[in-house]
Amino acid sequence: MLGTARSREFPGIERLDIQDGAALRDLLRRAQPEITVLAASNPNVDFCERDPAQTREINVEATLDVARAVSEVGGTLVFFSSDYVFDGSRPYFVENDPVAPLNEYGRQKAEAERGVARLAPRYLILRISGVFGWELARKNFVLQILDRAHEKNQIKVARDLWYHPTYAPNLAGVLEGLFASGARGVYHAAGADEFSRFDFAVEIARCFSLDERRIEPARFQDILGVAPRPARSSLRSVRLDPSAQNGLCGARDGLLDMRRTQGEWVQYLEEYGVATKGIGGGA
Ligand SMILES: NC(=O)c1ccc[n+]([C@@H]2O[C@H](COP(=O)([O-])OP(=O)(O)OC[C@H]3O[C@@H](n4cnc5c(N)ncnc54)[C@H](OP(=O)(O)O)[C@@H]3O)[C@@H](O)[C@H]2O)c1
Repeated sequence: MLGTARSREFPGIERLDIQDGAALRDLLRRAQPEITVLAASNPNVDFCERDPAQTREINVEATLDVARAVSEVGGTLVFFSSDYVFDGSRPYFVENDPVAPLNEYGRQKAEAERGVARLAPRYLILRISGVFGWELARKNFVLQILDRAHEKNQIKVARDLWYHPTYAPNLAGVLEGLFASGARGVYHAAGADEFSRFDFAVEIARCFSLDERRIEPARFQDILGVAPRPARSSLRSVRLDPSAQNGLCGARDGLLDMRRTQGEWVQYLEEYGVATKGIGGGA
C-alpha cells in the first residue's frame, strides 16, 4: 500500500501533486497499483462557484489525467463523486437516476464521472455524502462544530439542507467489500439516516456533551456562500449488497464511535505533535 499527499508531511506518505503529469506517471510506474484511489480534489462548493476555471483544473482536468495515467499502467481507478450531481428534486436518488447538478461543483463532478468512465478501462465511482470522522485536516462538519463550540458566539447551522451523514470508517468498509468482489461502475454509499444540518449539529452537541442551546437554526442562504444547493440530497443504493448497506450506520452510531475512540485519536495526534485543542487534548 502506498499513500500520497500534496502539502502534508507524514511518515510513510509520499509527496504528489496530481497536476504534475510526469511525477504522477513516474509514481504509478514504480508502484504498479492494482487499485488507485483518487480522493484529491477541491470540494469547496462555494469556491468552485466563484472560480470555475481554477477548480476545474483539479476537479476535472487533473482527474481525467489520473484516469489516463491509470489506464497506461492498468488496474482499477476509484473516484469519489458526490450527492451534489443531483438536484434534490426527489426524496432520494439511486445509481441510475439522471444527474442534474445545481452548482458548479456538481457540474465538475458529473463531468469528471463521465471522463473517468470513458478513459479508465476499469473504474469504480463512489458517490458519497457528508463524510465525518476523526481526521487531521479537521474540515468535516463534526470537527468544525467541535472546534467552534469553544467560541462565544452562537453557531448558526442550516435547517433547510437535508442529507445522510456518513461515518468515514463505514465507507472504508464498503470500499473493502467492493474491492473484494471486483465491483465496477457507479455506486452510492451514504449513512442510514437523513438529517438536516441543524439536527445533526444538535446531535453532535448532545453526543459530545456540549451546550446544544449554542446551535441556532438558520436558512442556508443566510449563512453559506454563493452556490445553490439541493435542499435534499439523499443517496440510496440499488447496487450495494445487503451486508454493505447494513455496514453503513446511522449518524448517531458514528458519533458514539467517535466519542468512544476520542482518547485514542488524541493520543495518536499527540504522538505526532499535532494540536488537539477542542477535541479533548490540552494543546
Ligand atoms: N467529504 C465529503 O463529505 C464528500 C462528499 C461528497 C464527495 N466527496 C468527494 O470525496 C473526495 C475527498 O473529499 P474530502 O472531503 O476528503 O476532501 P478534502 O478534505 O478537501 O481533501 C482533498 C485533498 O485533495 C488534495 N489535493 C488537492 N489538489 C491536489 C493536487 N493537485 N494534487 C494532490 N492532492 C491534491 C488536498 O491536498 P492539500 O491538503 O495539499 O490541499 C486535500 O488533501 C473528493 O473528491 C470530494 O469531492 C467528499
